[in-house]
Amino acid sequence: MSRIGLIGTGHIAAPIARFLASKGHELCVTERNAQIVSDLKAELGLRVGTAQDVIDTSDIVFLCLRPRIAAEVLGPLTFRPDQQIVSVMAGISTNHLKTLCAPASDFVQTIPLGFLQSGGCPLAAYGNDRLLAALFEPENPVVKVEDEGALNAHFAICAMVPGVLDLMATGAEWLANETGDRDRAEFYTAQLMSGFLSAMDKSAGQLAEERDALATEGTLSLQMTQSLHSGRAHEALGATLTAIGKRLETP
Ligand SMILES: NC(=O)c1ccc[n+]([C@@H]2O[C@H](COP(=O)([O-])OP(=O)(O)OC[C@H]3O[C@@H](n4cnc5c(N)ncnc54)[C@H](OP(=O)(O)O)[C@@H]3O)[C@@H](O)[C@H]2O)c1
Repeated sequence: MSRIGLIGTGHIAAPIARFLASKGHELCVTERNAQIVSDLKAELGLRVGTAQDVIDTSDIVFLCLRPRIAAEVLGPLTFRPDQQIVSVMAGISTNHLKTLCAPASDFVQTIPLGFLQSGGCPLAAYGNDRLLAALFEPENPVVKVEDEGALNAHFAICAMVPGVLDLMATGAEWLANETGDRDRAEFYTAQLMSGFLSAMDKSAGQLAEERDALATEGTLSLQMTQSLHSGRAHEALGATLTAIGKRLETP
């Protein structure tokens, strides 16, 4: 078991802390956010301290700050050369991390989503992917990426989650208007998508194969896929992914 610290105890740090505590690791988190910290303290009995306390009492340090305050918070802190650093901060480059966390030099950058707490969250990993695998697998599969550009592209794909949820909400709303039953409409829509995806083989080529198996000549499925293409939904998606990727590029 490891001594693990989290700096920035917000939305994403909380499920990470819960997952790591369930694995028996010894945890310490920073005092902010007060509400989340007091919930985690009551639930997991973890230690709470200043950011420097967290660093001094941890072998592995998770950086879970908003990118815009990372330099201000981390700059004055003193890291150790033997510490391993896991950064979940979008758009903070490896070079910037090395400067902020020197003399620590063992890094992995990743993109957790809150559902990692219950497993099934793929974790893109740039850097020390073995560290991430040791902490999160087998529940959450680690997907190694070769460079920072690829990591940022995975950040962009993660933004598809709210995009797809938004489309599903529109579909569920349409169904509710047709049936007059909002609860069942939303349950049906969400269960349909999650059930289909959880049963699906995730190896390369399967998305297109499953689509083509459904969208055959004359079907409602083909009408749907063709209409989305002709309505330029795919162009909007591609352009948005590119724009998000550019936003994450290091100047
Ligand atoms: N949310 C996600 O699903 C998600 C997914 C992947 C990656 N990320 C990345 O995770 C990072 C954090 O996102 P988040 O959604 O968890 O944001 P968040 O909820 O705002 O969490 C950031 C935390 O940092 C704390 N903080 C602010 N100033 C601090 C200081 N001086 N010392 C210590 N802690 C301080 C804040 O405390 P106060 O609340 O007291 O200000 C807040 O609890 C971002 O870089 C984001 O890119 C998030």
